[in-house]
Amino acid sequence: MKKIPVILDGDPGHDDAISYVIARANPLIDIKLLCSVNGNQTIDKTTINTLKIANLLDINCPISKGAIRPLIAPIMPAGNWHGESGLDGYDLNIGDKKLTDKPAYKMMYEVLYNSQEKVTIISTGPLTNVAILLKTYPEIKNKIKMIAIMGGGIIHGNWTPASEYNILVDPEAAKIVFDSGIKINAAVLDATEKAIIKPSDFPRIEQVNNKVSQVVLAWLKFFYKHPMEIGYEGAPIHDPLALLSITNPEILKIQKMHIDIDLDGKYTRGMFVYDRRHSSKLKPNADIVLDIDRDKFVDLLINALHYYDGRK
Ligand code: BDR
Ligand code: CA
Repeated sequence: MKKIPVILDGDPGHDDAISYVIARANPLIDIKLLCSVNGNQTIDKTTINTLKIANLLDINCPISKGAIRPLIAPIMPAGNWHGESGLDGYDLNIGDKKLTDKPAYKMMYEVLYNSQEKVTIISTGPLTNVAILLKTYPEIKNKIKMIAIMGGGIIHGNWTPASEYNILVDPEAAKIVFDSGIKINAAVLDATEKAIIKPSDFPRIEQVNNKVSQVVLAWLKFFYKHPMEIGYEGAPIHDPLALLSITNPEILKIQKMHIDIDLDGKYTRGMFVYDRRHSSKLKPNADIVLDIDRDKFVDLLINALHYYDGRK
């Protein structure tokens, strides 16, 4: 079957990392480029984490360091969720993985420009790199098949009552992306907070028992603690839903909507303002992932982990 060429752009981050685990295990996904971005931790930390994950998963593509900070806003690391390293729970090494000389937005441009077919960008962190790409090389839009993101919330936020973390960190970047006219899939909190891995799922992961499943279990055993303290039933694994919006829409509920992003609100900066009016004249600009079948998500993760059986 025909492969889907993708650029993975994220701020790993436990759920970014699990998203990469699922992507690497999918024979239909052809990872052309990995980019780090400032977000869950500083850019130096998310970049090291990206190199470590690439080494663990044997992802052999260029790896580029992304934006050091959001376009306008100050950085906003999420150490309370992802720990001091941004990926606490298992001590990995980078092996022989190296960074490209060029920064993420330039490498994105090169990969897109040189590709025979259109490429999908999957973004699981703040959209800073993608916004810089679109502003620096507007003509490259024609080579982007679509941008699938994890970001935003329809009925609520997580970092503020109104706003989700990835959008709140760099709302100006998100606005550039949503206003670009490129096809967008957005996995929002309404769905991603249902993609929970509970402690009662851990024995199934333990049974897989290969190197990658052991690392994923160790990540989860770190990552579930903070959300459970604040009332979640386990660890919300937000980021893979951006990928699944392309590969597994059958386990999701997806609806077209028009989304604006608030930049100025005292209480609502970074909020998704969505239009569900019957009288709306606004054209939908995104396919919003609103729900997921959690049981099928857990099965999908377990299947993906088995891909790594028999590897060192
Ligand atoms: C998003 O914020 C980050 O902490 C996660 O990695 C995810 O991308 C969820 O709001
Ligand atoms: Ca992320």
